[in-house]
Amino acid sequence: MSTAAIIPAAGLGLRLGGEAPKAFREVGGDSLLVHAVRGLLAASAIDLRCLVVAVPAGTEQDMHARLEPFVGSAELHCVAGGKERTDSVRNALEVIDAPGIDCVLVHDAARPFVPPDMIERVVFAIRAGASAVVPVLPVTDTIKRVDADGKVVDTPERSSLVAVQTPQGFEPGLLRKAHSGPADGATDDAMLCERLGVTVQTVLGSEDAFKITRPRDLLLAEALLNERQA
Ligand code: C5P
Repeated sequence: MSTAAIIPAAGLGLRLGGEAPKAFREVGGDSLLVHAVRGLLAASAIDLRCLVVAVPAGTEQDMHARLEPFVGSAELHCVAGGKERTDSVRNALEVIDAPGIDCVLVHDAARPFVPPDMIERVVFAIRAGASAVVPVLPVTDTIKRVDADGKVVDTPERSSLVAVQTPQGFEPGLLRKAHSGPADGATDDAMLCERLGVTVQTVLGSEDAFKITRPRDLLLAEALLNERQA
């Protein structure tokens, strides 16, 4: 069986600053998006057959030409992204043709350095029977819930909290069903599945799969790339 992957890359990335949208900011001479695509292709055991990238509207053809050299034998589609991340994922999902595909990965262009073994853990968990899988890491900070005035409401026990990364993996029919209703503020795709009452399984994530959000994260990305190339 084969895998399809969706990369929503149509966000502006305002918290990162700069002129280009976040996915097109460069580290080590390549865009974050190209690094993310390379990472998926490097996970050879997942047999990536189809890659759909949601890009800013109007850049679909240009992005297709730019990404084509990196996708090997995988089928590449570039579609226009939407207003919110969930809209971009939904647009991408429409072009995935399910026969022969047993897992759909949803990844962020903003996580360019995910190691292949982490991607394989997600896909293998789907192949072992899970319907929805998220890679996670324990949280190191104490997390508090606060009210609208910034007053602390409570402190959930830290051992029960994890930070969630991407790519997240889904059985294709479930992901379609999850995206068929309103997104209502969902911040990841697993959350849409949870709302359907589906059990979401976790696998171990990776510190290298950190998300580039703020300018300092770009420095960390440069350092990680240098370390890998040394
Ligand atoms: O902004 P944030 O880091 O949460 O975005 C996560 C991913 O979702 C990024 O790769 C971004 O390009 C993508 N995105 C999108 N369409 C949007 C908003 C975000 O494809 N409307």
